[in-house]
Amino acid sequence: MARPALWWRVFKAALCSRSNRQFYDRIAPVYEEVFVEHEQHADRMVELLQTNLAGQADATRVLDIGCGTGLLTRKLADRGFDVTGLDISFESLRLMQQSAANVHAVHAEGARLPFTDEAFQAIVALGSWRHFPDPRRVMKEIVRTLGPDGLLVIGYFPPSLGGAIHQGRGVWRKMMTRLYQGAIRRLGYVDRTDLSLEPQTINLASNYFVEVRTVTSGEYWHLVVARGQQQPGAMPAGKKIDKSSTSTHSFPCLAIQRPAVDNTRTFFK
Ligand SMILES: C[S@@+](CC[C@H](N)C(=O)[O-])C[C@H]1O[C@@H](n2cnc3c(N)ncnc32)[C@H](O)[C@@H]1O
Repeated sequence: MARPALWWRVFKAALCSRSNRQFYDRIAPVYEEVFVEHEQHADRMVELLQTNLAGQADATRVLDIGCGTGLLTRKLADRGFDVTGLDISFESLRLMQQSAANVHAVHAEGARLPFTDEAFQAIVALGSWRHFPDPRRVMKEIVRTLGPDGLLVIGYFPPSLGGAIHQGRGVWRKMMTRLYQGAIRRLGYVDRTDLSLEPQTINLASNYFVEVRTVTSGEYWHLVVARGQQQPGAMPAGKKIDKSSTSTHSFPCLAIQRPAVDNTRTFFK
């Protein structure tokens, strides 16, 4: 489908929908043509899992939260990971199953994962983090369902509306962001546009994981990579895991316009 026709379809879907679920159900058939930039982030995530879980692919159970039509899920399954894709959009899951019969599809909420404790060795979330009304609840569920030495990779990419929001400058950027925020509030969606969600996610992860770092992905963005859950008993006094609050900005903030040098930052507790 030509780009203008695609965007028109997305625009119409946005106007007719009253929730993230309805929106993604409506755009599922064209989703992968619209969100083309996710391909490079998905490749980067696969690379990270392969490096960090070297030699374990066959035995590694991976959960993809907000898997959509399975862009990342399929790639992981093709590399031999035992993948479960979870999403609130039934239509997206249906399409994922058509293209990847070897993945498990689960229709559920990111904040209520229908799995037993420590069910996975790795959990990934690509592009879904910005839609969670309460990322702290999702993180708690991740911590519960991830094994003690499990790997978490989150790709938070705020909506760019074809580059108009974050790559834009000054007044233009502010205007576009306000317009978009106003529109989604009216329509009843959850979609975070603010860049502070990235440092917030780093801080939130650092409440639970021993190692939290970011790696670049694409031209502007970063992936948050966390590994090794903190043991409450091993925590220094006064530094108990706070499972109910998200502190913000205590880490060096990651500028979104930073050039894509291969700078891997690692934060150790
Ligand atoms: C931008 S898409 C990303 C899809 C896929 N990960 C990719 O990169 O192609 C965001 C996905 O998150 C899902 N989503 C939104 N809110 C969710 C929630 N609360 N629980 C589970 N999935 C959710 C949407 O249905 C949608 O499929």
